[in-house]
Amino acid sequence: MSLPKLFIIFCFLVSFTSATSVIDFCVADFNFPVGPAGYPCRNPANLTVDDFVFSGLGVAGNTSNIFRVGVTAAFDLTFPALNGLGLSMARLDIGVGGVVPIHSHRVSEVIMVIEGTIIAGFISSDNTAYFKTLNRGDIMIFPHTLLHFQVNVGETPALAFVSLNSANPGFQFFTTSIGANDLPTDVVQKITLLDAAQVQRVKRIFGGTN
Ligand SMILES: *[C@@H]1O[C@H](CO)[C@@H](O)[C@H](O)[C@H]1NC(C)=O
Ligand SMILES: *[C@@H]1O[C@H](CO)[C@@H](O)[C@H](O)[C@H]1NC(C)=O
Repeated sequence: MSLPKLFIIFCFLVSFTSATSVIDFCVADFNFPVGPAGYPCRNPANLTVDDFVFSGLGVAGNTSNIFRVGVTAAFDLTFPALNGLGLSMARLDIGVGGVVPIHSHRVSEVIMVIEGTIIAGFISSDNTAYFKTLNRGDIMIFPHTLLHFQVNVGETPALAFVSLNSANPGFQFFTTSIGANDLPTDVVQKITLLDAAQVQRVKRIFGGTN
């Protein structure tokens, strides 16, 4: 990349990071790289109300996968108007017997159950488990960075919506991360206490090697 181009990007990032409190919004411009505070802003003159509307959460997610869960995310990449505003939403469709596997993200989350019955919980940093059966209308908090999960324990598909206090929460699913990487199996065994067959199984499922 040329120096002038780098400089322009730098100016965009600086103006964005120092100006968040004096502008109304900053719809992401994906022509520039993301920085710690998000993407640079699109020219407001080019925006319409449609840039502030995301309709994707009306459609059920695809649950044909090993966890029987469909996650439809309205995060900055799918809904650029969220850029810089510190919030996002997602729709969770959890099939019968399905789960949102144990995971964490950089920020806190609130879930609201719309249909069905789930067990939702998190594990605190002193390894206390906080979990409860939730029904329609219940909401629960998962504090930032803590491992948490949801399990559909009902006879019907479950539907829930979540909101997180970042436009890009940075999801990390434990089982997926353990299975999708290229670490040697014996290293994964050492750092997880799983046996070799278990490590190989999750590597096969999630596309890891070695
Ligand atoms: C947005 O506005 C700028 C400046 O007015 C213009 O140069 C650019 O082509 C516009 N972009 C789009 C996608 O309309
Ligand atoms: C759901 O996902 C599965 C597995 O990836 C795929 O085979 C199927 O076509 C998808 N269904 C729809 C309706 O997109």
